[in-house]
This record gives sequence, structure tokens and C-alpha cells, in this order.
Amino acid sequence: RSGESDLGDLSGRRVVVSAGGTRERLDPVRFLGNRSSGRQGYALARAALARGAEVTLVAANVSLADPAGVKVVHVESTAELRDAVLSAAATADAVVMAAAPADFRPESTSDTKIKKADDGSAPSITLQQNPDILKEIAHDRARPDAVIVGFAAETGDATGSVLDLARAKLARKGCDLLVVNDVSGGAVFGSTDNEAVILGADGSAVDVPHGTKSALAHRIWDAVAARIPQR
Ligand code: CTP
Ligand code: CA
Repeated sequence: RSGESDLGDLSGRRVVVSAGGTRERLDPVRFLGNRSSGRQGYALARAALARGAEVTLVAANVSLADPAGVKVVHVESTAELRDAVLSAAATADAVVMAAAPADFRPESTSDTKIKKADDGSAPSITLQQNPDILKEIAHDRARPDAVIVGFAAETGDATGSVLDLARAKLARKGCDLLVVNDVSGGAVFGSTDNEAVILGADGSAVDVPHGTKSALAHRIWDAVAARIPQR
């Protein structure tokens, strides 16, 4: 099968894709962030567009050009990402959370630049948990038939293998599909290629061999298209 198969199978469908990594503000010049490049999310947006979908891309701090033909909403923090995704999800046939939202934000932010003290001391940053957007969308189900997709990068640990942890995460999130990257061999952040397993809440598992982010994007839309109810 080619990476460009099934062109048109998302025609007339509204999809939402989130991409990039959120930033949590500390002061006017500093933030807590992560290294998500946004490339997988952008590949998903382009692939959905090629298959006929109306695409909203919620992009957090990416240095990538807005794809032509896609509605792009730029956001910075997890709170802003949540607002933009929830509002677009209300009318969407599918939501794919490819973004890396920061799990925590500083409990308080300073309106003025934090200065260092002469005595060599350093301030502490107290963190609080951010809302879990994927869990919220999957549990609230604004559109009961919408297909909700999450991503997870796992290494496996003493409590379980990559797939054990991923299955548990799929159940905890309540989403329909979870795209799992095994990152135990090194980070995939910023790379142009990807390999993954697409787990379904129905117990299915589709192995996607090493390939481009565009190829993985098309396999994800294959799985989504198969789950969108026919009109
Ligand atoms: N996600 C989200 N909102 C958050 C954190 C994560 O919607 N505040 C989404 C991500 O976009 C991804 C999925 O949830 O699609 C899994 O993210 P991950 O970081 O693996 O899950 P966490 O629940 O944050 O678990 P962990 O402790 O492993 O980071
Ligand atoms: Ca996380």
C-alpha cells in the first residue's frame, strides 16, 4: 500500500490535530517547555487534508510553516491548547492529540523578570498539574461517535513493558486509539522518521514499521477512517 492510499476517504469530515510542545510561563522572558518539534502533528494535518478532510491544526510553539489549506490556531500554554482543542472538538469527527502538553505549570508566574540574588541563592519553583486534555475529550464525548486518538512515548519500566504501559494508558485516557512509540532506544524528538504501534480500545494492535512521519500519519488515518461511522 502506498502512503497516499485512500485519498478522499475523509472527505466531508472535520478533524482536529494538536502539534508541538506547550510552554508554561515563569516570567516575561522564561518558560518551562519540552522538545516536541510538531512534525508528526503537521504530517497528520497534511495527510488528512490530502484525504479530503477539513482540518484544524492547533500548534504549540513550532518552527514550521502553516500548511496551506489547513486552519491553524497557534497557542503557547497547555491551558490555551485545551481551550482551542475543546472548542474545535465540539464539531469534529476525529481528534488526534499529537501535541506534548506540559504536565505541570508553575503555581505562580511573575509579571516582572525574576532577578538573581547576590548571596548565590536560587528560587524554588512550585509546580501544579495541568488538565489532561485527551482524558477530558475522551470522557466528555461532545460527539459520541467521534474518534479520539492519543500518542504515547514509553520506555517500559519495572512495572511493565512498553505495550503493558501503553494498554494501561489507553484505558486510563478512555481514547479509541493510542499511537505508541518505543523510545527506550533513544529519543525520537526532532527526527524525521518514526515507527509505532497503533493500539485500539477494541484490543487491536497495528505495527507500523520504521518510515516517514507522513507514512505513519496515513496509517493513523486508516485506523481512524475505519472507525468513523458511515453516513
Ligand atoms: N495529553 C493531554 N493533556 C495533558 C497531557 C497529555 O491531552 N495534560 C495527551 C498527549 O497529547 C498524548 C497523550 O495525552 O496524546 C499521552 O500523553 P503522555 O504524556 O504519554 O500521558 P500522561 O498522562 O501525561 O502520562 P505520563 O506520566 O507518562 O507523562
Ligand atoms: Ca505527560
